[in-house]
Amino acid sequence: MNYKEHIDIKKLPRHVAIIMDGNGRWAKKKGGIRIFGHQNGVKAVTDVVEASAELGIKYLTLYAFSTENWNRPKVEVDALMGLLISTIHKELNTLTKNNIRLLAIGNILQLPNNVRKELQKTIDITSKNTGLTLVLALSYSSRWEINNAVKNIAKDVKNNILNPDEIDEITFNKYLTTSEIPDPELLIRTSGEYRISNFLLYQLAYTELYFTDTLWPDFTKEDFYKAINDYQKRERRFGLISEQIKNQQ
Ligand code: IPE
Ligand code: IPE
Ligand code: MG
Repeated sequence: MNYKEHIDIKKLPRHVAIIMDGNGRWAKKKGGIRIFGHQNGVKAVTDVVEASAELGIKYLTLYAFSTENWNRPKVEVDALMGLLISTIHKELNTLTKNNIRLLAIGNILQLPNNVRKELQKTIDITSKNTGLTLVLALSYSSRWEINNAVKNIAKDVKNNILNPDEIDEITFNKYLTTSEIPDPELLIRTSGEYRISNFLLYQLAYTELYFTDTLWPDFTKEDFYKAINDYQKRERRFGLISEQIKNQQ
């Protein structure tokens, strides 16, 4: 089946988020070390970025490194940081050529200086681009983000910048690292794991979830189109009943 052909361009998800998982297992299957898997995962990243830009998706968020991932063996963390710098550096031309804007969410201050520099440079250079917004979740976890938001809200209340009675969902959203980004309509997780692993817990409240057994380095544009096809077959009810949704259309 040609999945791309079956995509309804008028009903694209505005924001797709992906938990890119399975690099280590992919490498093991090939008899390589885990880092070999991460290196081969880069191709899948560039493929989904390109596919998203081509389709006209507005936001793509990739979970690249979690708060918990800092606890992996140092050699792996170092290799991931190195891969991050080289990939961002290499992809700058592609981002510019395709009108892609880069953003990052997460505890960016925790990243090594050279990673932060390369990241900030690319964010600045691409800041005026108006096509796809590519969001990298780096040193990100939802519990960190929510904790951080609560801390900053408390500070603003203490400094009389914020009235506690006026805190609603709109106010709360302003304190999240995703404040400028709409909630995802579709979440994809690869590698056959059925969990969220501390990713966008608050933002995923009404997101459609899509799980595939494919390991991240094997994930292709076709797999991405297939996930979008699946999403487009679903009825998003937001707590209403089916008839109400049909009347809205
Ligand atoms: C995802 O692949 C990449 C990162 C978490 C950085 P993994 O490294 O988690 O691969 P598996 O899950 O061990 O196969
Ligand atoms: C989630 O994958 C984090 C990223 C993809 C960056 P993990 O491999 O770290 O998650 P768990 O350990 O399987 O939950
Ligand atoms: Mg994993």
